[in-house]
Amino acid sequence: MKVLFVCLGNICRSPTAEGVFRRALERAGMSNQVEVDSCGVGNWHVGKAPDQRAQQAAKLRGIDLSGLRARQLSERDFTDFDYVLGMDQDNLRAMRELKPANSSAHTGLFLDFAGTPGVEVPDPYYGGEEGFENVLNMIEAASNGLIQHLQRER
Ligand code: 4NP
Repeated sequence: MKVLFVCLGNICRSPTAEGVFRRALERAGMSNQVEVDSCGVGNWHVGKAPDQRAQQAAKLRGIDLSGLRARQLSERDFTDFDYVLGMDQDNLRAMRELKPANSSAHTGLFLDFAGTPGVEVPDPYYGGEEGFENVLNMIEAASNGLIQHLQRER
C-alpha cells in the first residue's frame, strides 16, 4: 500500500503529514506494509528541506523532518500510489487535472479520514507559529483515522 500526501509547496503541510503518518504507522506496527511520500502541486521549493517552523513544531512532538526534500507532483504518482491525499480544495483541483483517466488511485482530502469531510488543512506559510500547531493537530487526527481505515481495508 502506498500513500502520497500533497500540498502546494511541499515544505509545510505535506512533509508534516509524511512525518506524522510515518510515526503513526510505526506505533501501529504497520511500517513494513505501507509506504509514504509527499509532494507539492507547485515547483517553487523543489529540492528544499521543510520550512524551519514546520521542522521546529514537529521536533517538539519528537518527529524529525530535516531529511525530507521537496518534489513536485507528477502524472506518474497516480499509478505509483494507491492513495493521493490533498490538504485543501486547490490541491484537489490541481490533482484531478493531472490524474490520468486510467488511474485507480483514491484521490481526496486528507481530513476526510479525520471524520470531517470537506475540511481543509489551512496553509500556514504566511501565518505565525500557532498555525503550525493547528496543522499538526489536524494531521495527527487524520493520520489515526487513515490508519484505522487501512486496517479495516485489509
Ligand atoms: P505548503 O505551504 O503548501 O503547506 O508547503 C506553502 C509553502 C510555500 C508557499 C505556499 C504554501 N509558497 O507560496 O511559496
